[in-house]
Amino acid sequence: MSATTRRPLLQFSLHWLALAVVLVAVVGLFAAARPATQEKVKEFGICAECHEDVCTDFKLVRHSEIKSDRWTKTALQVETVCANCHGDPAKHLEAGGGVGTIFAFRNTDAAQAKAEKCLECHSSTRSLFFASPHGQAAMDCTNCHGELMKTSEEKPRPSEICLSCHQDIGAQFKMNERHRLQEGVLECTTCHDQHAPSTRTRLGGFKDEECIRCHTDKGGPFLYEHEASRVEGCTSCHEVHGSHNRHMLTHQSTADLCFSCHAAAPSWHGFFSSQDTNCVTCHATIHGSNLSKRFLK
Ligand code: HEC
Ligand code: HEC
Ligand code: HEC
Ligand code: HEC
Ligand code: HEC
Ligand code: HEC
Ligand code: HEC
Ligand code: HEC
Ligand code: HEC
Ligand code: HEC
Repeated sequence: MSATTRRPLLQFSLHWLALAVVLVAVVGLFAAARPATQEKVKEFGICAECHEDVCTDFKLVRHSEIKSDRWTKTALQVETVCANCHGDPAKHLEAGGGVGTIFAFRNTDAAQAKAEKCLECHSSTRSLFFASPHGQAAMDCTNCHGELMKTSEEKPRPSEICLSCHQDIGAQFKMNERHRLQEGVLECTTCHDQHAPSTRTRLGGFKDEECIRCHTDKGGPFLYEHEASRVEGCTSCHEVHGSHNRHMLTHQSTADLCFSCHAAAPSWHGFFSSQDTNCVTCHATIHGSNLSKRFLK
């Protein structure tokens, strides 16, 4: 459903509630929905007179309900929610509108200045964001949240936003062994916090927090843990986006995977070749066990 059709519908149902009480005829409902929409636009104050397109944007309505007294403290004493992000519009109004007289995201190069506008309210993400790979790469909130101001557009799926830049990762999700991203089983944001750093030390955390949320049986706690995953988590043995190898393993041959850490198997293993032996036919509880130190059962 498009944004423009959704809002009148919402208001329609609100009116239905109100009018049902006084038993007004159904015909009256259609007439009543229209003035209400215009009233909503009027709430954006004087800005709506020249920026009607922007002001009828459905997505903006969410932010339009923000309560702030910053605007009323400015010289002109005109109320509008738009000032929350575009700052004091006094010069803009005195000039009768126009470019360069008000804070505009598109005309501001400094990522920090743009992010600060948003962080005035979303302050809990502040310290994390500037330390994140995105903050470090001089990105700001509008690189991904441009949809806030776009009219009549469906809110994109989070992963669509990510894939607009990370196309190489998109290719991994097309391999035959992969997580079902396209099918909507998960999003990039299921595992990643785009507002925060993803440090190597979090990899163990990834194992605990994210993977195990779905793969509960791999999480233990086990009496005998496979210490392989202690530092790097599940990624010591698995690709996480997608892979050509079975079970998204990092190696095509399971033996090669095991020997990447184990210098040698016990000597009696020597009678089966490392090429074609699937070590997990015997070491079947490879993720950990309560019964066998050698992960045999
Ligand atoms: C008298 C008409 C008028 C009013 C009232 C008005 N604007 Fe504008 N505004 C314009 C025009 C014309 C432009 C330049 C054309 C454009 O970019 O749309 C503009 C541009 C802008 C820009 C982009 C500026 C830039 O440098 O690129 C922003 C942001 C903006 N207006 C916000 C507001 C806000 C917020 C309000 C209410 C406080 C407001 N405007 C009220 C006419 C107006
Ligand atoms: C939650 C913060 C926020 C609020 C509130 C807000 N805007 Fe914006 N506005 C933005 C962002 C972010 C962009 C840039 C979008 C992009 O880059 O695609 C933008 C873009 C614009 C532009 C195009 C020029 C520019 O800055 O890039 C105009 C004009 C504009 N807004 C007017 C308004 C008006 C009028 C209101 C009040 C109805 C309003 N805005 C309320 C965040 C906001
Ligand atoms: C004046 C305070 C204020 C400012 C400035 C502000 N926001 Fe918000 N924002 C809010 C509030 C309040 C909510 C609603 C929170 C909720 O519903 O839990 C919100 C919600 C959001 C959401 C979630 C929207 C949704 O549909 O779920 C996003 C994304 C967001 N803001 C991004 C931004 C960005 C990007 C900027 C800067 C361009 C910005 N905000 C500026 C107060 C603000
Ligand atoms: C790399 C892209 C990207 C950047 C940069 C970014 N965001 Fe987000 N943000 C997202 C995505 C994707 C979501 C999740 C949307 C969803 O789940 O529907 C989100 C969600 C949010 C939400 C909703 C609540 C939440 O945490 O889930 C808020 C608020 C928000 N972002 C604020 C900000 C602010 C403020 C900035 C700048 C300091 C920012 N974002 C920078 C991509 C980004
Ligand atoms: C506008 C482009 C853009 C968008 C959109 C974007 N990113 Fe990024 N991302 C970058 C850049 C630039 C870097 C830093 C350079 C690099 O490591 O590639 C980065 C870095 C990262 C990293 C760290 C990479 C590393 O090697 O440590 C992760 C993880 C990441 N992004 C995930 C996401 C997710 C998840 C989303 C969607 C919510 C997203 N990105 C959206 C541009 C983007
Ligand atoms: C199942 C969880 C999961 C999902 C879903 C996921 N990732 Fe990752 N991603 C990880 C883990 C774990 C790592 C490795 C740890 C790290 O580098 O932070 C990683 C690494 C990355 C990296 C840096 C390393 C590299 O390969 O370049 C980027 C960039 C990235 N992911 C982006 C994305 C994007 C974009 C999406 C969605 C299209 C996505 N991820 C979906 C878990 C996931
Ligand atoms: C020491 C290497 C190693 C580590 C660490 C590891 N795995 Fe595995 N995993 C394997 C191997 C080998 C297989 C294939 C087993 C087989 O062929 O029966 C596998 C199979 C799987 C499977 C598919 C088969 C099944 O049993 O459901 C899932 C899901 C899985 N692993 C998730 C995880 C998760 C989640 C983590 C982190 C908690 C993790 N793995 C850590 C080696 C590992
Ligand atoms: C939102 C839930 C979810 C999260 C989080 C998640 N997975 Fe998965 N994973 C799945 C589902 C569902 C499948 C089965 C894919 C399919 O539909 O074929 C799967 C498949 C796998 C497989 C392949 C299993 C096989 O039989 O080949 C591996 C390996 C795996 N996940 C590892 C991980 C790792 C490592 C992480 C953390 C970085 C992780 N998963 C996070 C849901 C999740
Ligand atoms: C990322 C490195 C890594 C990978 C890959 C790995 N292991 Fe391990 N494994 C370890 C570590 C560390 C221990 C703890 C004991 C040690 O240091 O040898 C261990 C312990 C074991 C043990 C218990 C023996 C003992 O000495 O306590 C067995 C059996 C085992 N691994 C089998 C396997 C098999 C089979 C594979 C391949 C599917 C495999 N491992 C892959 C790192 C790894
Ligand atoms: C036919 C079954 C079988 C296969 C296949 C097998 N193992 Fe084992 N493995 C065992 C048994 C049984 C033990 C325990 C021996 C003991 O306790 O002395 C063991 C022990 C181990 C140990 C622990 C040695 C120690 O110091 O305690 C490692 C490491 C190991 N195997 C690695 C591998 C690797 C790597 C492969 C694949 C190349 C593999 N195994 C294939 C049966 C097997």
